[in-house]
Amino acid sequence: MSSTIVSPPADLTPQQMQRFSKLVYEKIGVTISPQKVTLLSNRLRRRLRSTGVANYDAYYDLLSSTSTDTAEWEAFLQEVTTHETYLFRDQAHWDWVRNVFLSDIQAQVREGKRRPTLRIWSAACSTGDEATSLACCVADRLQPGGDWKIEILGTDVGSGAVAAANRGVFGERAMRLVPESMRRRFFEYDAETREWTSRDVLRRMMKFRTHNLLKPLREAPFDLVLLKNVLIYFDTASKKQVVQELRRVVSPGGYLITGAAEGVADLIRDLNSTHGWLHRFPTAQKPGVAT
Ligand SMILES: C[S@@+](CC[C@H](N)C(=O)[O-])C[C@H]1O[C@@H](n2cnc3c(N)ncnc32)[C@H](O)[C@@H]1O
Repeated sequence: MSSTIVSPPADLTPQQMQRFSKLVYEKIGVTISPQKVTLLSNRLRRRLRSTGVANYDAYYDLLSSTSTDTAEWEAFLQEVTTHETYLFRDQAHWDWVRNVFLSDIQAQVREGKRRPTLRIWSAACSTGDEATSLACCVADRLQPGGDWKIEILGTDVGSGAVAAANRGVFGERAMRLVPESMRRRFFEYDAETREWTSRDVLRRMMKFRTHNLLKPLREAPFDLVLLKNVLIYFDTASKKQVVQELRRVVSPGGYLITGAAEGVADLIRDLNSTHGWLHRFPTAQKPGVAT
């Protein structure tokens, strides 16, 4: 008896690598360096096995003829993007959110200087850990209810990530930096699965949906935007495109928090920046400046 052994394809050729990198770049702005050929080849081999598509070129044709919201694009993006995230990532950011940003908002509302509304965007939110951390801080500081209107929008290009964000279930690893007092108040613990589920007090404030940072966002304006650990994968042209959109959606005097290595300093020199990660937009539009 003989059986045919189909050997997996060799690594992508430089031309194939270039075509796939260009495809990803054009759809979501992420750049994949030629040095990542082994990594990308390994990941594509997984997609070939799952789909039964014969080779890299046929798989390229399949992707390039469909839009990013198809199941295969989702699976492909899952392979080529990094989704690493966890709650309360970067302690200093959360100290500022709680002790400065929300305290100021609370004081302004108390003094009648602003309406009790707040809108925050967690851009490239992955599985929603950042938006959930925001909701914890808001629930803790503002104790919303009554007149408060709070909206925390979490968006990501990956629909699998967004589905996970909507489930709101977090393992111990993602929860490791959540203060003990918040764990019990804002999450339900399942001792069997050892997972924590966001309670309604958080869920009421959050909304998640898919969105590509290279496209305009329909919701705006925002008092605060978190854009962390995503532009590190973008080149200057794509970063510029995203920053231009931020200028449109952040309120005058609103804030932007970036990751430490986002590489946008040159593009936001006009903002008032501190700590390398906190940026404030001008409070009023200068006459003659186009938006
Ligand atoms: C490393 S995670 C960052 C998660 C979170 N912001 C944090 O810092 O913990 C990067 C996320 O960016 C998303 N992403 C990559 N390109 C994107 C694009 N063009 N539009 C929206 N999201 C994108 C990926 O799907 C991934 O979930």
